[in-house]
Amino acid sequence: MAAAASATTMLLKYPSLCSLPNSSSSSSPSNNNECSRDLNIPQTNTPPLLKFRAQPNKLVANAVASPVFPSLTTTTTPSSSVNQLVHEFDPKIPAEDALTPPSSWYTEPAFYSHELDRIFYKGWQVAGISDQIKEKNQYFTGRLGNVEYVVCRDGEGKVHAFHNVCTHRASILACGSGKKSCFVCPYHGWVFGLDGDLTKATQTTDAQTFDPKEYGLVPLKVAEWGPFVLISVDKNLPETDPGTEWLGSSAEDVKAHAFDPNLQFIHRSEFPMECNWKVFCDNYVDSSYHVPYAHKYYATELDFDTYDTQTIGKVVIQRVAGNSNKPDGFDRLGNQAFYAFAYPNFAVERYGPWMTTMHVHPIAQRKCKLVVDYYIEKSMLDDKEYIDRGIAINDNVQREDKVLCESVQNGLETPAYRSGRYVMPIEKGIHHFHCWLHQILQ
Ligand code: FES
Ligand SMILES: [Fe+2]
Repeated sequence: MAAAASATTMLLKYPSLCSLPNSSSSSSPSNNNECSRDLNIPQTNTPPLLKFRAQPNKLVANAVASPVFPSLTTTTTPSSSVNQLVHEFDPKIPAEDALTPPSSWYTEPAFYSHELDRIFYKGWQVAGISDQIKEKNQYFTGRLGNVEYVVCRDGEGKVHAFHNVCTHRASILACGSGKKSCFVCPYHGWVFGLDGDLTKATQTTDAQTFDPKEYGLVPLKVAEWGPFVLISVDKNLPETDPGTEWLGSSAEDVKAHAFDPNLQFIHRSEFPMECNWKVFCDNYVDSSYHVPYAHKYYATELDFDTYDTQTIGKVVIQRVAGNSNKPDGFDRLGNQAFYAFAYPNFAVERYGPWMTTMHVHPIAQRKCKLVVDYYIEKSMLDDKEYIDRGIAINDNVQREDKVLCESVQNGLETPAYRSGRYVMPIEKGIHHFHCWLHQILQ
């Protein structure tokens, strides 16, 4: 299966750091000497250079209480200008008569910051999948808005998540994904255990006011739910089932598909996109309005007469039958495709022997990254030709969507466009998504 690769081998790009000799991007276990807990061992050969006079950062169970990251879950009132932008969309107007949100929702940096605060730094958010940390000492990294995170399974099998930021000088600590028994900072060589403890702070033996216990990695909340790893920076997170908090009333519906033990993770594809994350979401929930025009092959796979879209809570569910008279006879979708898009940015898809998940990472105001994870029924694992062809078809759909989305972003940034209209009922999913955004952001 040439196209398939383990998610644990996928590397995110931090070129200036991950190329350094001490970087944590290797998939091989690190040198045990690097991981040794030597904070109490005098270093006689190297004179201490650092003196610590500042008050230490008090680390607590909830990351947001740390002065290192003081404002992640603020509930501040939006500035009047952002508030004005939010209310330029009126959810009370029937979709048939309504204008879409103004283009500034997709172009204004202040609006994007407000979204991070109100949407992505609240509740549970998808960070990755359990397959990435199925073995002890495996880890993966990622970015959620401005939050750089690392998720790992320690030597005891316990799962942790931390801000992926060194507590010395704020260097990004770990890179990509792999297997490590500790994280060695590429900047000055501080070493952190997979439990977050600072185990080695180079050249600090003379620092009387420095307590290494105060400088462990800043933790994030983490939970595994089915095949997914969720994280949270929300200080007011309710102590309920993560899946229910994340998906609301659609949790059971998604669970029925995503928890299938007959599914095996097989491949990850990534698509960086030069567009606001919502441009991709709008495209996803348009009931395939664009498919006949923009996805010529995918259009041959669908029986459009059966298309059904339901909006439930914070989820848009789309169902469509596969085309039984498909010209080339390649059956990818089976009898019915099920697409559940959970706001803000995650879709679970089930069709034929496949499950795919679509995760849109917000990176910046006009930058996001789509991560597509492929699972297949275990009975199909030996059919490599079918798997490669299926992945190639779906990846091509994403490439076509990337072109569309980047074109829309460019159009949104021109002075020619301010708002559009909804074509109903086919675009009811988009209207529902915009109403949800308005509710969360006001
Ligand atoms: S920034 Fe990490 S050791 Fe200095
Ligand atoms: Fe599309």
